[in-house]
Amino acid sequence: MIGVFDSGLGGLSVLAAIAAALPQADLVYLADTAHVPYGDKDDAFIRDRVLRIGRHLVEVQGCRQLVVACNTATAAAVASLRAALPQISVIGIEPGIKPAASASRSGRIAVLATESTARSERLAGLIRQHAGDVEVDILACPGWATRVETLKLDDAAFAEAARRHLEPVLAAGADRIVLGCTHYAFLAPVLRPIVQGRAELVDVADAVARQCLRLAGESAHRCGGLTLLATASPERLDRALDVLGLDALAGRLSRPAAQVDA
Ligand code: DGL
Repeated sequence: MIGVFDSGLGGLSVLAAIAAALPQADLVYLADTAHVPYGDKDDAFIRDRVLRIGRHLVEVQGCRQLVVACNTATAAAVASLRAALPQISVIGIEPGIKPAASASRSGRIAVLATESTARSERLAGLIRQHAGDVEVDILACPGWATRVETLKLDDAAFAEAARRHLEPVLAAGADRIVLGCTHYAFLAPVLRPIVQGRAELVDVADAVARQCLRLAGESAHRCGGLTLLATASPERLDRALDVLGLDALAGRLSRPAAQVDA
């Protein structure tokens, strides 16, 4: 059983990639909707939530592998989670600085992230390690994850605000825009027309899914089931599958999302 979690709906973008790469795997997704967003919280709060959720997925749900489908939680807490659960394999997600830097022709890229990820030492380290010869603009995007949580994505005022936010880095020549928060994958339909002809969006959900496949392998005697859990308003998860067009995930469900105390 593989446990995948995020502050809310964003990790569904990673879950969809994992489900496609591992059609037989039994998956549990936990959305910490009682505490979303994480991006404006401090590290100690995020670490506490990540440890509670990790333990719940292992001890109550029986997961043997965890995927932290949240850049913010990975930056703040993946090391603590690995230390707390040494017998469990833990995969985190980090902004795709490396693929973006190596694909950039202009020598300038931008990363969109939550406030917490934007100021994290982990992101600074990733940039030092993989983008030494590239200019990197870090754009914190307050409120964007919450916008996804509302599931109202076709809002003209938001599209205009996003355009104003991105325009300076596009004008400066950034040709790769890294989606450094799993929620932002669901904003791609809004962002793509803004960057079109000037830059490409970079998302690493598929790379995380490949890593998951390498670690988990595929086994014929699993059922390919999916359980959705949330710490509040579980019905939002069911609605999200519908609104976000995640039909393949919906097809693996045998019951509606349930609330858990984690
Ligand atoms: N989806 C998360 C991420 O990848 C966090 C969004 C939030 O809760 O602020 O960073």
